[in-house]
Amino acid sequence: MGSPSIIPDAPNAALIGGGFIGPVHVEALRRIGIPVVGILGSAPERVRPLARQLGIPRVYEDLDDLVGDGSVAVVHVTSPNGAHFDQTCRLLESGRHVVCEKPLAVTAAETTALCALARSRPRQAAAVNYNVRFYPLCHEMRSRIARGDIGRVLSVTGSYTQDWLLYPDDYNWRVEPDGGTNLRAVADIGTHWMDLAQFVVGQRIRAVCADLATFHAQRFRPIGPAETFRGSGDAGSSRPIAITTDDYAAVLLRIGAEARGSFHVSQMTAGRKNRVLLEVAGTEGSFSWDSEEPNGLWIGRRKGPSEWLERDPALLSPEAAAISDYPGGHAEGFPDTFKQLFRAVYQWIGEAGATSPAFPTFDDGDREVRLCEAIARSAHEQRWVTVEAVRVNESSAKGCTP
Ligand SMILES: NC(=O)c1ccc[n+]([C@@H]2O[C@H](COP(=O)([O-])OP(=O)(O)OC[C@H]3O[C@@H](n4cnc5c(N)ncnc54)[C@H](O)[C@@H]3O)[C@@H](O)[C@H]2O)c1
Repeated sequence: MGSPSIIPDAPNAALIGGGFIGPVHVEALRRIGIPVVGILGSAPERVRPLARQLGIPRVYEDLDDLVGDGSVAVVHVTSPNGAHFDQTCRLLESGRHVVCEKPLAVTAAETTALCALARSRPRQAAAVNYNVRFYPLCHEMRSRIARGDIGRVLSVTGSYTQDWLLYPDDYNWRVEPDGGTNLRAVADIGTHWMDLAQFVVGQRIRAVCADLATFHAQRFRPIGPAETFRGSGDAGSSRPIAITTDDYAAVLLRIGAEARGSFHVSQMTAGRKNRVLLEVAGTEGSFSWDSEEPNGLWIGRRKGPSEWLERDPALLSPEAAAISDYPGGHAEGFPDTFKQLFRAVYQWIGEAGATSPAFPTFDDGDREVRLCEAIARSAHEQRWVTVEAVRVNESSAKGCTP
């Protein structure tokens, strides 16, 4: 399903990073008719087998080699977080459209510089892959809240929970400090939740009060690389590492002028593989959405029976129907969110940036890193912290200096 033809003169894309999420990008791009012509990994010999498996014709030696490939118009950055800033700067400066994985970078100084650079190049797409928004029923909540269906928003609550880092011998680059906020669960999955919450209610989180926990003060690092969701390392070929990044966080929120909220994130909740929960309560009704049942939306009412809305384009608002390709009863899920987000990006590119972006931009990515910094400071200083406002202006676009 879907309509590849909606993207005229499909531009060529290249991929950076070939771990867990890189192939998800490739699959989604192919579903919308975008050719993926090359891949850059941590080393050419490491990424070559994946390139063969995915049928990607070219393996780049390094970033210079990619930048020198004049056939590439768009680059998807799916390397680990610490590499995003340098790679994204270089690509934007070379005139490429960029779709960067979240979080956009590891400090607000870096994201500020990236936003300034992106603003100085308004015809280049500068997208961050906060894909959870692109579940159709998340767009549906946003539309219904905007048209006043649940009245004034009073509270926004929920969680993002996983179990893949439950044991001390579960290891991944994410558990190491990133040299920026040094947050892990919050930066990795908390920013997805906060992006979704702010998108759905159309208001910003303005202050946070956070409590962080590191349950495993020591983990066992495999001697070789440990890629995402690949299970525990082999204790025989690992060494102990002291851990300071958060396994768990609970955060109180002040949102917009009036609303309150809270969420928790955990990468140590047994049985929860990758669960996002969002509940929004207003003066006239409420919504509850659960990524484990992403094709249904609970609509709560005080004076009448509550409702369960099955995703069906025929029953959705125009904004949600537009990102829902299959009829009701034909489940859509995680890979479809990538397809829909990328379609929004490539449509915008096809229209030469003439419309306002329907995808998460670098400004959204910057907002999330500012939230991370506020959460880290709040936990450290044990107090409420106001989220710093964006200070980007075009005159500060000096290139890749954070
Ligand atoms: N939107 C989502 O749902 C989602 C899901 C998972 C991961 N992510 C994000 O995607 C990024 C990658 O995560 P992952 O889970 O795929 O990690 P991963 O460890 O599975 O894969 C990262 C890949 O990048 C390669 N790599 C390392 N350094 C590199 C460099 N300098 N240049 C090029 N390649 C390099 C590694 O060899 C590896 O193949 C992270 O930023 C993460 O937050 C997003």
